[in-house]
Amino acid sequence: MDKKSILCIGAGYVGGPTMAMIAAQCPEYKVTVADINAERIAGWNSDTLPIYEPGLKELVEKSRGRNLFFTTDVEKGIREARIIFVSVNTPTKTFGSGAGKAADLQFWEKSARLIAEQAGEDKIVVEKSTLPVRAAEAIHRILQSNTKGLNFAVLSNPEFLAEGTAVADLENPDRVLIGSMVTPEGHNALEELVEIYAHWVPREKILTTNVWSSEMSKLVSNAMLAQRISSINSISALCEKTGADISEVSHAVGMDSRVGSKFLRAGVGFGGSCFKKDILNLVYLCECCNLHEVAAYWEQVVLMNEYQKRRFAERIVKNMFNTISGKRIAVFGFAFKADTGDTRESPAIHISELLLGECATLAIYDPKALANAKADLAGAKGTIEYCSDPYEAAKDAHAIALLTDWKEFAGYDYRKIFSLMEKPAFLFDGRNILNHKELFEIGFNVYPLGKQELTHL
Ligand code: UDX
Ligand code: ADP
Repeated sequence: MDKKSILCIGAGYVGGPTMAMIAAQCPEYKVTVADINAERIAGWNSDTLPIYEPGLKELVEKSRGRNLFFTTDVEKGIREARIIFVSVNTPTKTFGSGAGKAADLQFWEKSARLIAEQAGEDKIVVEKSTLPVRAAEAIHRILQSNTKGLNFAVLSNPEFLAEGTAVADLENPDRVLIGSMVTPEGHNALEELVEIYAHWVPREKILTTNVWSSEMSKLVSNAMLAQRISSINSISALCEKTGADISEVSHAVGMDSRVGSKFLRAGVGFGGSCFKKDILNLVYLCECCNLHEVAAYWEQVVLMNEYQKRRFAERIVKNMFNTISGKRIAVFGFAFKADTGDTRESPAIHISELLLGECATLAIYDPKALANAKADLAGAKGTIEYCSDPYEAAKDAHAIALLTDWKEFAGYDYRKIFSLMEKPAFLFDGRNILNHKELFEIGFNVYPLGKQELTHL
């Protein structure tokens, strides 16, 4: 085992980009990323990476084959590494106790057992995937139950990168958080990990805490970000009823430096792999601690998000003369946000299902997420067309439902799009990224989110 060798188990949205950054910044370390999914690994070793992320291809190419390697041989990776990051998926449990809320830790536990089985020397194990508070303790117990007398230190090092800006977030993080056990071994392990990040992150941005504070901070960071979105989305509903304009309200409220302007964009609801899952984890933890009022408080953030998606679909039906049966609706954007092909928990999934439930025909266009959209809607009943061109999607459509904030949507020729559509033509801007006045002048009936509609009807 080389002291300067790192393994990451799990080559997903977190593991892949994070290890590519460590390899680029720490050329003296050998960084290996291992995954049981052979197709994913083949992707990481090819010109077409398995995930789309601006700047990622260049970053990977910088180190791949030099000190960055992708492999399916997890066992060998474990034997050779000193520091093992575990970044496998921790979905919400769908069965048994805690179903629908608690995290399913089976992939994590499998990895921990494999580490204990394969290790021949002491190692540092780093939690990279979000885990419930006090998970590190359980993992430590599994690792220490090895019969070889080996010692393992478990660190919590949550990832705060956001998709679409992963490379920039990794390069210049607001902070790096590392939690360790309050023991001499824990402290030594922590120093080894700090040393790696200190290659490019200023020391004052590297926070060290106890392991439970670190696990908790990850859940709370995501819960508070999601809470801001649900708060502003709840007010968008009120704006539509009262004549206030959500963009003006967001702007005015966000200018108070105590509130701050970020994460106050109203939309069709938050998606992504983390927010809902982490809040539900928090809710479950509160319930387990008999803190029912606290649990209900945070659960409302998720319930408000469900309401926002439903509200958007219902607004479409109501304004299109109470029926969309047999009508073609062009869906612009399926990814959960711009600049990613990821559709996990995307509001587009639920909204599409609701529209299909009303017997609409969907024509879906997304610049990066069409393959995922197809997989997400594979079981949905109804007629769905997947279009590689937005103008093709809009042809003969009665309405456009804009669901993702892709910049390119604002640059289309909407005169041409209008001419291709059935009349009256409707446009529901679920992200408020288009020029509504101009669209109205072209002839569209425009329904921005959280603002008064502009209609010719
Ligand atoms: C999030 C956290 O930001 C990141 O720190 C954590 O590590 C993982 O979860 P991510 O899911 O990639 O990152 O995306 P994020 O940019 O946070 O957006 C989440 C969702 O909220 C998206 O669907 C986005 O469209 C939506 N959103 C965001 C809004 O609707 N309004 C906003 O103002 C901001
Ligand atoms: P995240 O967004 O947290 O990175 P992903 O689902 O994108 O989550 O990635 C998790 C990866 O972990 C997947 O590629 C999956 O194949 C991998 N994985 C799950 N279990 C194991 C395991 N036991 N050994 C190796 N890789 C695993």
